[in-house]
Amino acid sequence: MDDLARRYELFGQVEAIGYRPLTEGITRDTTMLGRIAALPEAKQQPNLLFAAVRYLGGPTASYPAFAAFVAGRWPEVRATMLARSTQTNEAARCAVLLPALGLLDGPLALVEVGASAGLCLYPDRYGYRYTLPGGREHLVGPPEGAFTCAVDGPAPLPGRTPEVVWRAGVDLNPLDVRDPDTVAWLRALIWPWQPERLAHLERAIAVAEREPPPLVRGDLNDTVEELVAAAPQGATVVVYHTAVMPYLSQAERERFATTVRGLPCHWLANEGPARMPWARMPQPPPSGRAVMVLVLDGRPLAYAGPHGQSLSWFA
Ligand SMILES: C[S@@+](CC[C@H](N)C(=O)[O-])C[C@H]1O[C@@H](n2cnc3c(N)ncnc32)[C@H](O)[C@@H]1O
Repeated sequence: MDDLARRYELFGQVEAIGYRPLTEGITRDTTMLGRIAALPEAKQQPNLLFAAVRYLGGPTASYPAFAAFVAGRWPEVRATMLARSTQTNEAARCAVLLPALGLLDGPLALVEVGASAGLCLYPDRYGYRYTLPGGREHLVGPPEGAFTCAVDGPAPLPGRTPEVVWRAGVDLNPLDVRDPDTVAWLRALIWPWQPERLAHLERAIAVAEREPPPLVRGDLNDTVEELVAAAPQGATVVVYHTAVMPYLSQAERERFATTVRGLPCHWLANEGPARMPWARMPQPPPSGRAVMVLVLDGRPLAYAGPHGQSLSWFA
């Protein structure tokens, strides 16, 4: 119970500060902690609990209202947590992938592992507004609804979006944005104090509805080789992943790294630094916020905001 309370406390302090009233309440509420502790370990995540409550229409602004909802509807909250997982699909992470993709000769064939609904498979369809020190801006692609990303350091911002001739993704549980219930779940995963992320989701869903992403169901370690082999001749294949490594054991991460290094492809990772023990990096920016590191073919390039909102290039 102490470890669980600490996990919730950290989530509210470091990752999702807007949920702090809830995480502080939970750490002091032994009944609530007991309910969560009785779930399988993989289902004890703070984000899963909060998304389940939001999906069911419950309140998350104050702890007393949240706790009363959970107490009254626990069978439904529990069933939702058991049935679903934290598959947050953040299309705006394409804003941090784009400069790395721009370093590669095209045309590109994209293979995304851990793709969720595949919304990060369209870096060529979105627009990007990079804000630079001194108030300058660098626009790439269509400006309407562009993802905003604050950049510092010598990031090689591309002049245009990459040419993508083929794309495919794999997920243990691929999501289909044409299913309203799935979309309701994806919305519930977005933190309520971040309406701009909801706008990103709606925009990306519109793209994916027009051109449903080719997603296969499976484990990335079992499928990455065949996906790379399926890419068209003459295209530069890029295997990439964002916010996926926490779901793998250390052994699974190492197996994946070994496999990808042996394939005829580039490998682009956007993951938490602790999940990438094979990469050597400078100290992260002293923001105190959770950061990710962008690594191309084993070479760390930049720190990135967890939802694609910032890029600190250091390579
Ligand atoms: C947090 S989501 C990130 C989705 C997307 N990459 C993004 O950044 O928006 C992590 C995804 O990885 C998937 N995943 C976890 N382990 C996996 C595995 N071994 N093989 C394939 N997909 C996996 C999960 O199902 C989930 O959809």
